[in-house]
Amino acid sequence: MKKTSQWKIPLFKINVSPSDVKSVTNVIKRGTDWADGKEITQLEKELSKYIGCKYCLVFNSGTSAGHAVLIASGLQNKQVMIPSLTFISTANWVLMAGAHPKFFDIEEQTLGLDPIRIEEKITKTTKAIIPVHYAGLPCKINEIKKIARENKITLIEDAAESIGATVGKKKVGTFGEASIFSFAANKVLTSGEGGAVLTNSKKLFEKLKLLRSHGRLIKENYFSSIQKPNYVTLGYNWRMSSITAALALSQLKRLDYLIKKRQENAKYLTSKLKKYSEIKFHSVPKDYVHVHQLFTIILPNQKTRDNLIKFLAAKGIMSKVFFVAIHETKFYKNLGYAYDDLTITEKICQRILSLPMYPDLTKTEMDFISDSVGEFFNSYKNN
Ligand SMILES: Cc1ncc(COP(=O)(O)O)c(C=O)c1O
Repeated sequence: MKKTSQWKIPLFKINVSPSDVKSVTNVIKRGTDWADGKEITQLEKELSKYIGCKYCLVFNSGTSAGHAVLIASGLQNKQVMIPSLTFISTANWVLMAGAHPKFFDIEEQTLGLDPIRIEEKITKTTKAIIPVHYAGLPCKINEIKKIARENKITLIEDAAESIGATVGKKKVGTFGEASIFSFAANKVLTSGEGGAVLTNSKKLFEKLKLLRSHGRLIKENYFSSIQKPNYVTLGYNWRMSSITAALALSQLKRLDYLIKKRQENAKYLTSKLKKYSEIKFHSVPKDYVHVHQLFTIILPNQKTRDNLIKFLAAKGIMSKVFFVAIHETKFYKNLGYAYDDLTITEKICQRILSLPMYPDLTKTEMDFISDSVGEFFNSYKNN
């Protein structure tokens, strides 16, 4: 098994600046408030402003953020529509909160939930929809929002992969009752681990605050206050540390630059790979902005895709399947949940592949990736 550093070109690489080191070091050096420090509220304020929502709460992962939103939205025992093409976490937090996931198919342009399918299949038992903005590209969120509103269904965006992506002038994360983001190591904004919930609902925000920290009602900082707390509900410890928040704040300062670099790289790599007729790409609808958390290609079939992974790996280039369809995993198969017809999801999951994408990917590296892909197709044709 290779370590990240052993790949000539890994799938992702973090852009590190001296200001990241300084931000983290400042918190460490002060030797106090490593939890619940001022960086937490500062990060929440900055994220609210950047994304365009009234309230933000940061969490220790995107998964805990999603888990918290499901509970706070009162969706226990309710049916929740999700795509099967997503990270397993989207389905897991639905289950963990005691709700029932039901998988729906995607459309081929953005690889997000298909609004036409949703509209046809909504029933009275469907109480929420969690669309995913896959790989940094917004899904058909305006259409999904309209359906949610007409059917009085809660809309929660899984924007884990897509901070900064927009539809029209609106950033993803601002379309539903709440949204979640992830700051895991391979994300567009990263602090190693971390997550956030964004919402315009004060009620939801207050519930989430309790859930995040032991159900504890306290006005002051718990760690520095002599105030007696009151525990008013079941809560978890889903807090982000001040050290992590300092790192996220530093990354957030240059997020637009990091996105621009990804977009430039994605444009260059697409221009190089376009000449191979075997490769298809998902496409960016008009007025959409893609932030390229992943660089996604679609191969003609599963065998070609799997052989390409091995071929590239032998050259030191990492590529990976994001994602295995959730309804086809052993765990979810065993649970036996009903799902809708998932023909497109199944077809895409057999053919999809992510190639390396990160802000500091060089032209030389991208030339090497595309030349290697070309070499693969040539040798494949000749065999
Ligand atoms: C679509 C999606 N949802 C949820 C998550 C969960 O985020 P985290 O890894 O921070 O728990 C991720 C990230 O891995 C993701 O890609």
